[in-house]
Amino acid sequence: MSEVAVITGATHGIGRVTSRELARAGKTVVMLCRDLTAANAVRAEIARQVPHARLEVGRCDLASLASVREAAAAIRRDYPPLGLLVNNAGMVSTRRRASVDGFELTFATNHLGPFLLTALLSDHLDKAARIVTVASRIHYRGCLDFDKVTNARARYQATAAYAQSKLANVMHTFALARRMSGTGISANCLHPGVVRTNLLPRWLRVVKPLITRVMFDAERGARTSIYLALDPGVAGISGRYFDEYQQPQAAAALANDVELQESLWKRSALWTGAPQRATNAGCHADLSS
Ligand SMILES: NC(=O)c1ccc[n+]([C@@H]2O[C@H](COP(=O)([O-])OP(=O)(O)OC[C@H]3O[C@@H](n4cnc5c(N)ncnc54)[C@H](OP(=O)(O)O)[C@@H]3O)[C@@H](O)[C@H]2O)c1
Repeated sequence: MSEVAVITGATHGIGRVTSRELARAGKTVVMLCRDLTAANAVRAEIARQVPHARLEVGRCDLASLASVREAAAAIRRDYPPLGLLVNNAGMVSTRRRASVDGFELTFATNHLGPFLLTALLSDHLDKAARIVTVASRIHYRGCLDFDKVTNARARYQATAAYAQSKLANVMHTFALARRMSGTGISANCLHPGVVRTNLLPRWLRVVKPLITRVMFDAERGARTSIYLALDPGVAGISGRYFDEYQQPQAAAALANDVELQESLWKRSALWTGAPQRATNAGCHADLSS
């Protein structure tokens, strides 16, 4: 398998720990981040902890489709086909804001950016590559309402917006796994646990009922990402949703609705301008249908 791993959102929390452990495992880790100063500080920190670490930093603001396109082009230009893509970055906006492309910001950052990045890199993946997406258990509370993504006057509620974006992560993973079937490339997603990170303090207010008795630190919260990225036992497993104990679980009924997955896929492709046909070198994965 290719030793090149791309991860988004490596500057803090789960992504920072995941990056460190991928580097420790011998991967060349390309950290795609919107804040290059913070990313370089993390690179230096990991280099101190893991002397043999091979870490690179690239700029990518997932809330900007142009930035995602530039990042994907740089990856394709500068690196051989990837062995791993970790869609980790995520956020929640407490009030409705629009991305530079005019989409609701939480959905744009958590789903549309990763959707486009994955599509643009799908023909630059090694034949045993793994795609790992950090979703959330909150997807069980999500429903898809496309109007909320494009209509600036639609009622905004942070929990609902975040849950919708995380439902989209799970649906994207399942639709991706179907398209990648038979290629050797896998796509899985996960809930990391309720993890004490930058995301949570602001978020704590809105999801209070969901907070479990024990909150994980980032080290513990990164375990399922690391497991899905590296564990030999995961080889051949695709299209699954894993919990914070590295166990496969049934995703929400809505997430398993193939018609809805396809509707989301088509809408996401339309909105992002993602290539409708992406052929994986040697694998011929067809992402168009
Ligand atoms: N923490 C939890 O309890 C929990 C639970 C379920 C799921 N998750 C998921 O876990 C993943 C990691 O979150 P975390 O808890 O580690 O949160 P975090 O500490 O806030 O880290 C989030 C990362 O995403 C990056 N990011 C945010 N917006 C971005 C953008 N527009 N473009 C590029 N990068 C962006 C942040 O970069 P900056 O440094 O530039 O802000 C940061 O590196 C997310 O997908 C989140 O939804 C977390």
